[in-house]
Amino acid sequence: MKILISDKMSDKVENVLNENKIPYDIKTDLSPEQLTEIIDDYDGILIRSATKLKAEIIGHCKNLKVIGRAGVGVDNVDIDTATKNKILVMNTPLGNLEATAELTIGLMFSLMRHIHLASPSTHEGKWEKSKFLGSELKGKTLGIVGFGNIGQRVAEIASVIGMKIITNSASASDDILSRFNASKVSTDELISTSDVISLHTKLNDETKNMFNATSLKSMKPSSVLINCARGGLINEADLKVALDNDVIAAAAVDVYETEPATNSPLFNAKNLLLTPHLGASSKEAQSNVAIDVAEQVADYLLNGNIINNINIIE
Ligand code: MLT
Repeated sequence: MKILISDKMSDKVENVLNENKIPYDIKTDLSPEQLTEIIDDYDGILIRSATKLKAEIIGHCKNLKVIGRAGVGVDNVDIDTATKNKILVMNTPLGNLEATAELTIGLMFSLMRHIHLASPSTHEGKWEKSKFLGSELKGKTLGIVGFGNIGQRVAEIASVIGMKIITNSASASDDILSRFNASKVSTDELISTSDVISLHTKLNDETKNMFNATSLKSMKPSSVLINCARGGLINEADLKVALDNDVIAAAAVDVYETEPATNSPLFNAKNLLLTPHLGASSKEAQSNVAIDVAEQVADYLLNGNIINNINIIE
């Protein structure tokens, strides 16, 4: 039995595999051709987001049994092909939840108080105190699109700050909503009444370009938009136009349609805070997801136990 680690991840992953006496190779930055050539020498593969396991790569595998994603999003894995080929796909939904929720709250504070703009200005000796008059989060309405683990943690922190929480999540139960003092509203109502909108939903056919010229126009002109979920939820060209024309007040974007975002339509938009997909980039989160993914995959290969599976293998 052997595992391939094909993306850079915390060395905690090695401790877990060593404890379980599972041999492994670490081979990162492989081209699709290099990966195709070696992938079926392994029983399991551990990935983050850089490795793309498309049909061409996993479609021919006869030996590979499990794909472990150290993180939440599995949009870099062709789940249908994996399922057809009896390859189990697992993710680690809890390990980076705190990191992503905290980044979201940090971006929220920064947008409302202009921290990201005030720091470079002050470094330049400009002392633009009146230019950076901000707004408080307390009493404002936070619209959370998607009310899973991360959305709920954002709601929990935001409610302590004194924000009113609304969500459009169809699946959030009354019990969950009451735990976070949240109310369920339609997507249209969320878009038109929120002071801050934060995205924590999956990217799929239904949510792609959910924030486009029309929905951005429906937002309050004073409102701000934050995306720490997935690029593609916001139409990037439309967001740039909306920001440059003061349709909305500001936005913070951590995730992009194309990553790494070395040439984005968003670059140089007005009042736009950009970060390079840092949601899960805390020391704690990277350690958590590495341990979780290695433990889950080891437990599956050694004992047949399945948790946090994305697909079902017959
Ligand atoms: C995730 O899906 O876990 C986060 O976006 C972080 C990542 O892709 O590494």
